[in-house]
Amino acid sequence: MIYLDHGATSFPKAPGVSAAVAQFIDEASGNPGRGGHRLTIKASRAIEDARTAVAELLDADPERTLLGPSATFWLNNILCGRLGPGDRVVTSALEHNSVMRPLRWLEAQRGITISVVEGVSPAGVPTAAEVQEIVGQAPTALVVLSHASNVSGAVIPVEEVALRIAPTPVVVDGAQTAGTLPFAFSRSGLAAFVCSGHKGLQGPSGTGIALLAEDFEIQPLIRGGTGSNSESEDMPVMLPDLLEAGTPNGPGIAGLGAACTWLTDRTVEAIQDHERALINRCITGMRTIPGLRLTGWVEDMPQTGVLSFTIDREDVGELATWLDRERGIALRAGLHCAPAAHRRLGTFPTGTLRVGVGPQTTEDEVDALVTALDERCG
Ligand SMILES: Cc1ncc(COP(=O)(O)O)c(C=O)c1O
Repeated sequence: MIYLDHGATSFPKAPGVSAAVAQFIDEASGNPGRGGHRLTIKASRAIEDARTAVAELLDADPERTLLGPSATFWLNNILCGRLGPGDRVVTSALEHNSVMRPLRWLEAQRGITISVVEGVSPAGVPTAAEVQEIVGQAPTALVVLSHASNVSGAVIPVEEVALRIAPTPVVVDGAQTAGTLPFAFSRSGLAAFVCSGHKGLQGPSGTGIALLAEDFEIQPLIRGGTGSNSESEDMPVMLPDLLEAGTPNGPGIAGLGAACTWLTDRTVEAIQDHERALINRCITGMRTIPGLRLTGWVEDMPQTGVLSFTIDREDVGELATWLDRERGIALRAGLHCAPAAHRRLGTFPTGTLRVGVGPQTTEDEVDALVTALDERCG
């Protein structure tokens, strides 16, 4: 199989991930932080080692590096744990439903207001000046932005935004950039950065991360046992316990730690260079195919390893099925859980075909996609 769906999740995982998952299950399956026997201590150590590896890769404070089930979970926790009646949120037109659905729920249930920065660029990417202008129009509790669109791969200049609108807090959905764009949270100026563990970080499914700045506080979405302060029926105030109630996904977190260690060694810069070269190769090949249109792509625009396209008179779903069945090429068709982005980019409601490359994708695999498209549509 030729796997070109890294925008959805990574495959194969980073070397060492499955071994770390198996090792946790076989040798460290105690309940971390709960009790003092050796298996519990091993589990706690494995989780804290993984936390350290994640924090090191993303240059964050380990105590404020939170591990949970998904980017979706942490986005919900931050938005619902922070926003209340009358609060105004500014966001972009490129957001995933992991941002838009909690925001729309908060709008309906808690009376927040939402302002969307459309961005004049054909890629829908707002400039820092455009965000600043909208933020300046009314008091703003929070700015929430994708670091990159999961539809087009276009990168939003989130750090420049944070610099311009400080002290307004900026929360970033980095699901599409962690592990694929060099990033240092400690120098970003962001209030919070959220990402999946299973996409660019190449860890197991069921893992997600939130990094919180020192002065950025949120209420927990869920409350329960933490193994700490067990005499109290209130949540402990210290992090990460306040926001990590319940038994964690130990095997997944151990695998995520192994993935982050591998990424630190390989370097995100090298992965970015590799993916950029593959996407450029893909674009060059695709430009020769009649009727093929790249979605939300602008020459020289910063881009991740994701790219969307349509082909005139071709149904994207049927084309994806044909690529899978006839050529063994896996990519994703449709709206990619981002209807707002497709509305902005003119591909709603049918959507696009999306290519996503990863660290182990080869030039031959990208060429095989272009050849297949050419044979079918050229
Ligand atoms: C931009 C973006 N945000 C959020 C998510 C949700 O990530 P997770 O699967 O970790 O909840 C995704 C995953 O598709 C995404 O692409």
